[in-house]
Amino acid sequence: MRIAKHADEGSFVSSLCEGASVVMQEPTAKVSVLCDGFGSLPTGESVQRFVLENGILSVGLISHGARLASLWAPDRTGKRANLILGCETLSGYLNAHDAYLGATCGRFANRIAEASIEIDGILYPLSANENGLHTLHGGALGFDSRVWKATTLEDGVRFSLVSEDGDQGFPGTLHAEVTYRLCDGSLRIQYEYVSDRPTVANLTNHAYFNLSGEGSGTICEHTLSIAARAFLPVDESFLPTGEIAPVENTIFDFRRAVAMGERLGRNDSQLQINRGFNHTFVLATQDLPAAVLCCPLTGRKMTVLTTEPGIHLYTAGFLDGSIHGPSGRPYGKEAGLCLETQRFPDSPHQPQFPSTYLRAGEVYRSETVFEFTTFEFQDEN
Ligand code: GLA
Repeated sequence: MRIAKHADEGSFVSSLCEGASVVMQEPTAKVSVLCDGFGSLPTGESVQRFVLENGILSVGLISHGARLASLWAPDRTGKRANLILGCETLSGYLNAHDAYLGATCGRFANRIAEASIEIDGILYPLSANENGLHTLHGGALGFDSRVWKATTLEDGVRFSLVSEDGDQGFPGTLHAEVTYRLCDGSLRIQYEYVSDRPTVANLTNHAYFNLSGEGSGTICEHTLSIAARAFLPVDESFLPTGEIAPVENTIFDFRRAVAMGERLGRNDSQLQINRGFNHTFVLATQDLPAAVLCCPLTGRKMTVLTTEPGIHLYTAGFLDGSIHGPSGRPYGKEAGLCLETQRFPDSPHQPQFPSTYLRAGEVYRSETVFEFTTFEFQDEN
């Protein structure tokens, strides 16, 4: 499998437009899709849970936050574990709001400085949900807090949401769809959104992965590679400084696989500010996987492919043990890591970043694939 701007002959290409899909082989394993209730919010809105199963992977999704709640994948001996940090109950997710566990983040993932944007000469104040100063993950009532409408498909679930004009301060009514599909050993996430007025939008998924299983310790033994020649340094507010800095000769060079523990242990001011990595990497090309995460202990390997130009690595430095997962064990610092595919944080204020401006009626499409395989030898990557 690879990512391509153009379809390969003989490959299966989804109905997404050119440049917005990951090219994949036709799946062979049949998918079953089950649905049940997952409680209701204090407002009375009921939440649905879905389980996609194809004999290789089993994926749990919930309509609150169009959320990836669990993903069971085999290790090198065939034994499955749940690799996603999550909660057993809906109230667990509500209490863990600030962690954005597995959620779809929007209308604008990550930060917008000073909680305001200017579009076509008009200034729009936004929800200032980070210290009353900045906007984080779309505002106080971001897409992670909404109950999405769900439609089951042959191989997955499509979640849709209407975000009204003025929602969290953003102009334009935005219709958003997030589709999860199982494709043999891969989970595909497709995004599609359109607004009736000019706006900005940037959606991602905030799943925390631990390839030895949620609640089984830290990701320090994992190795990670990221196909990025540059990254975005941040200031004390975790906002990009605007610089697109080369990774060469820095701790941000992940072009060859590195052990996470070794990197996280380095004495570096960027790591100190963020309690680890909390940085966007600028992807070099769509022809390579964006990132490869390996767990030498279990032999599990996750390959991330995306049509997005950036990937935000967050090593969960702010998890403090107050959230307990389905395993019952607490999630502390580095209990998982997020690989959030997206355009860049604070783009509306940084003209040198890829644009997140969405014209009225323009449909934005993107796709990210998380592929799960296993390896026998510790040195494979
Ligand atoms: C993102 C941010 C982090 C943190 C988490 C949520 O990844 O970049 O700083 O806010 O979300 O806890």
